[in-house]
Amino acid sequence: MKEKKQYVCPVELAGSLDNRARRWMQNPSKILTPYINPGMTVLDVGCGPGFFTLEMARLVGPEGKVVAADLQQGMLEKIRQKITGTTLNELITLHKCKEDEIGLSASFDLILAFYMVHEVPDQKRFLEEVYSLLKPGGNLLIIEPRFHVSGRAFEKTTEILSHCGFMITSQKSFMINREVVAIRTNLS
Ligand SMILES: C[S@@+](CC[C@H](N)C(=O)[O-])C[C@H]1O[C@@H](n2cnc3c(N)ncnc32)[C@H](O)[C@@H]1O
Repeated sequence: MKEKKQYVCPVELAGSLDNRARRWMQNPSKILTPYINPGMTVLDVGCGPGFFTLEMARLVGPEGKVVAADLQQGMLEKIRQKITGTTLNELITLHKCKEDEIGLSASFDLILAFYMVHEVPDQKRFLEEVYSLLKPGGNLLIIEPRFHVSGRAFEKTTEILSHCGFMITSQKSFMINREVVAIRTNLS
Protein backbone atom coordinates (compact mmCIF):
# COMPACT_ATOMS: atom_id res chain seq x y z
CA MET A 1 0.00 0.00 0.00
CA LYS A 2 1.26 3.52 -0.83
CA GLU A 3 2.22 5.51 2.28
CA LYS A 4 0.09 8.65 2.85
CA LYS A 5 2.22 11.79 2.66
CA GLN A 6 1.93 13.98 5.76
CA TYR A 7 0.48 17.47 5.19
CA VAL A 8 3.04 20.24 5.54
CA CYS A 9 1.90 23.88 5.50
CA PRO A 10 3.13 25.18 2.13
CA VAL A 11 5.29 28.26 1.67
CA GLU A 12 2.41 29.86 -0.32
CA LEU A 13 0.49 30.09 2.98
CA ALA A 14 3.32 31.90 4.79
CA GLY A 15 1.30 35.14 4.70
CA SER A 16 -1.46 33.57 6.79
CA LEU A 17 1.14 32.82 9.48
CA ASP A 18 2.47 36.36 9.77
CA ASN A 19 -0.08 39.14 9.78
CA ARG A 20 -1.67 41.74 12.02
CA ALA A 21 -4.69 39.62 12.99
CA ARG A 22 -2.45 36.81 14.21
CA ARG A 23 -0.23 39.26 16.10
CA TRP A 24 -3.35 40.45 17.91
CA MET A 25 -4.57 36.94 18.73
CA GLN A 26 -1.20 35.32 19.40
CA ASN A 27 1.08 38.11 20.52
CA PRO A 28 4.60 36.59 20.31
CA SER A 29 5.99 38.78 23.08
CA LYS A 30 3.20 37.81 25.52
CA ILE A 31 3.52 34.12 24.69
CA LEU A 32 7.31 33.91 24.85
CA THR A 33 8.34 36.36 27.59
CA PRO A 34 7.67 33.91 30.47
CA TYR A 35 10.10 31.37 28.96
CA ILE A 36 12.98 33.42 27.53
CA ASN A 37 15.66 35.39 29.36
CA PRO A 38 18.49 37.46 27.88
CA GLY A 39 21.51 35.34 26.92
CA MET A 40 19.58 32.12 26.30
CA THR A 41 20.12 29.77 23.36
CA VAL A 42 16.74 28.88 21.88
CA LEU A 43 15.36 26.84 18.99
CA ASP A 44 12.25 27.59 16.93
CA VAL A 45 11.58 24.24 15.25
CA GLY A 46 9.14 24.32 12.35
CA CYS A 47 9.69 28.08 12.38
CA GLY A 48 7.78 28.79 9.16
CA PRO A 49 8.19 32.42 8.09
CA GLY A 50 9.50 33.41 11.53
CA PHE A 51 6.44 34.89 13.27
CA PHE A 52 7.94 33.79 16.61
CA THR A 53 11.63 33.65 15.61
CA LEU A 54 12.13 37.41 15.45
CA GLU A 55 10.60 37.97 18.88
CA MET A 56 12.77 35.15 20.27
CA ALA A 57 15.82 37.03 19.01
CA ARG A 58 14.67 40.28 20.64
CA LEU A 59 14.13 38.48 23.94
CA VAL A 60 17.50 36.65 24.04
CA GLY A 61 19.25 39.91 23.14
CA PRO A 62 22.81 40.43 21.92
CA GLU A 63 24.30 37.75 24.23
CA GLY A 64 21.83 35.07 23.11
CA LYS A 65 21.34 32.82 20.10
CA VAL A 66 18.35 31.66 18.08
CA VAL A 67 18.23 28.76 15.66
CA ALA A 68 15.30 28.81 13.25
CA ALA A 69 14.81 25.33 11.79
CA ASP A 70 12.38 24.20 9.10
CA LEU A 71 11.94 21.50 6.50
CA GLN A 72 11.25 24.02 3.78
CA GLN A 73 13.99 26.25 2.43
CA GLY A 74 11.28 28.66 1.20
CA MET A 75 10.20 29.35 4.80
CA LEU A 76 13.80 29.99 5.84
CA GLU A 77 14.18 32.41 2.93
CA LYS A 78 11.17 34.40 4.24
CA ILE A 79 13.06 34.86 7.51
CA ARG A 80 16.26 35.74 5.70
CA GLN A 81 14.41 38.53 3.86
CA LYS A 82 13.05 39.91 7.16
CA ILE A 83 16.37 40.00 9.03
CA THR A 84 18.92 40.88 6.36
CA GLY A 85 20.38 44.29 7.14
CA THR A 86 19.00 44.31 10.71
CA THR A 87 20.73 43.62 14.02
CA LEU A 88 18.71 40.39 14.36
CA ASN A 89 20.70 38.91 11.49
CA GLU A 90 23.65 38.32 13.85
CA LEU A 91 21.51 36.46 16.38
CA ILE A 92 19.54 34.10 14.15
CA THR A 93 20.97 31.00 12.44
CA LEU A 94 18.80 29.40 9.77
CA HIS A 95 18.84 25.60 9.60
CA LYS A 96 17.21 23.28 7.10
CA CYS A 97 15.90 20.06 8.69
CA LYS A 98 15.70 16.69 6.96
CA GLU A 99 12.31 14.97 6.57
CA ASP A 100 13.01 12.65 9.51
CA GLU A 101 15.63 14.53 11.50
CA ILE A 102 16.14 18.02 12.87
CA GLY A 103 19.87 17.39 12.57
CA LEU A 104 21.39 19.85 15.05
CA SER A 105 24.09 19.25 17.64
CA ALA A 106 23.76 22.34 19.87
CA SER A 107 21.86 22.27 23.15
CA PHE A 108 19.08 24.67 24.00
CA ASP A 109 17.48 26.38 26.99
CA LEU A 110 14.11 26.49 25.24
CA ILE A 111 12.61 24.78 22.22
CA LEU A 112 9.42 26.15 20.68
CA ALA A 113 7.26 23.93 18.45
CA PHE A 114 4.33 26.11 17.43
CA TYR A 115 1.61 24.61 15.20
CA MET A 116 4.04 22.07 13.79
CA VAL A 117 4.03 18.79 15.78
CA HIS A 118 0.86 17.57 14.01
CA GLU A 119 2.79 17.87 10.72
CA VAL A 120 5.50 15.46 11.91
CA PRO A 121 4.86 11.85 10.77
CA ASP A 122 6.84 10.14 13.56
CA GLN A 123 6.23 12.16 16.72
CA LYS A 124 8.06 9.69 18.97
CA ARG A 125 11.28 9.94 16.99
CA PHE A 126 10.90 13.71 16.70
CA LEU A 127 10.28 14.26 20.44
CA GLU A 128 13.17 11.97 21.39
CA GLU A 129 15.43 14.15 19.26
CA VAL A 130 13.96 17.31 20.80
CA TYR A 131 14.67 15.86 24.25
CA SER A 132 18.30 15.24 23.30
CA LEU A 133 18.65 18.85 22.12
CA LEU A 134 17.53 20.39 25.41
CA LYS A 135 19.84 21.24 28.28
CA PRO A 136 18.84 19.60 31.58
CA GLY A 137 16.19 21.92 33.00
CA GLY A 138 15.39 23.25 29.52
CA ASN A 139 11.79 23.81 28.51
CA LEU A 140 9.83 22.55 25.51
CA LEU A 141 6.77 24.60 24.60
CA ILE A 142 4.33 22.88 22.22
CA ILE A 143 1.28 24.74 20.96
CA GLU A 144 -1.12 23.03 18.56
CA PRO A 145 -4.23 24.37 16.78
CA ARG A 146 -7.54 22.99 18.08
CA PHE A 147 -8.95 23.20 14.54
CA HIS A 148 -6.42 20.57 13.33
CA VAL A 149 -5.63 18.60 16.49
CA SER A 150 -8.32 16.78 18.51
CA GLY A 151 -8.16 16.43 22.28
CA ARG A 152 -7.34 12.73 21.86
CA ALA A 153 -4.54 13.42 19.36
CA PHE A 154 -3.04 16.01 21.70
CA GLU A 155 -3.30 13.57 24.60
CA LYS A 156 -1.26 11.09 22.53
CA THR A 157 1.45 13.71 22.04
CA THR A 158 1.62 14.33 25.79
CA GLU A 159 1.84 10.57 26.43
CA ILE A 160 4.81 10.40 24.07
CA LEU A 161 6.43 13.30 25.96
CA SER A 162 6.22 11.32 29.18
CA HIS A 163 7.67 8.21 27.51
CA CYS A 164 10.58 10.28 26.22
CA GLY A 165 11.42 11.34 29.80
CA PHE A 166 9.89 14.84 29.84
CA MET A 167 8.13 16.11 32.93
CA ILE A 168 4.97 18.00 32.00
CA THR A 169 4.76 21.20 34.02
CA SER A 170 1.58 22.67 32.55
CA GLN A 171 -1.11 21.80 30.07
CA LYS A 172 -4.09 23.82 28.94
CA SER A 173 -6.52 24.51 26.12
CA PHE A 174 -7.46 28.11 25.47
CA MET A 175 -9.11 29.90 22.56
CA ILE A 176 -7.88 28.12 19.43
CA ASN A 177 -4.84 26.52 21.08
CA ARG A 178 -3.81 23.40 22.94
CA GLU A 179 -0.61 23.99 24.89
CA VAL A 180 1.82 21.86 26.85
CA VAL A 181 5.03 22.87 28.60
CA ALA A 182 7.49 20.10 29.40
CA ILE A 183 10.91 20.10 31.00
CA ARG A 184 13.95 17.92 30.43
CA THR A 185 14.84 16.71 33.90
CA ASN A 186 17.71 14.25 33.64
CA LEU A 187 21.38 14.64 32.80
CA SER A 188 21.83 11.70 30.39
C1 LIG B 1 1.80 25.60 10.31
S1 LIG B 1 3.49 26.02 10.06
C2 LIG B 1 3.84 26.90 11.57
C3 LIG B 1 5.03 27.81 11.45
C4 LIG B 1 5.42 28.58 12.72
N1 LIG B 1 5.81 27.71 13.80
C5 LIG B 1 4.30 29.49 13.15
O1 LIG B 1 3.61 29.19 14.12
O2 LIG B 1 4.13 30.52 12.48
C6 LIG B 1 4.36 24.51 10.28
C7 LIG B 1 5.81 24.58 9.87
O3 LIG B 1 6.47 23.40 10.32
C8 LIG B 1 7.35 22.95 9.31
N2 LIG B 1 7.57 21.52 9.50
C9 LIG B 1 6.69 20.51 9.34
N3 LIG B 1 7.25 19.33 9.64
C10 LIG B 1 8.53 19.59 10.02
C11 LIG B 1 9.63 18.78 10.45
N4 LIG B 1 9.52 17.46 10.55
N5 LIG B 1 10.79 19.39 10.74
C12 LIG B 1 10.91 20.73 10.63
N6 LIG B 1 9.92 21.55 10.22
C13 LIG B 1 8.73 20.99 9.93
C14 LIG B 1 6.66 23.30 8.01
O4 LIG B 1 7.57 23.39 6.94
C15 LIG B 1 6.02 24.65 8.36
O5 LIG B 1 6.87 25.72 8.06
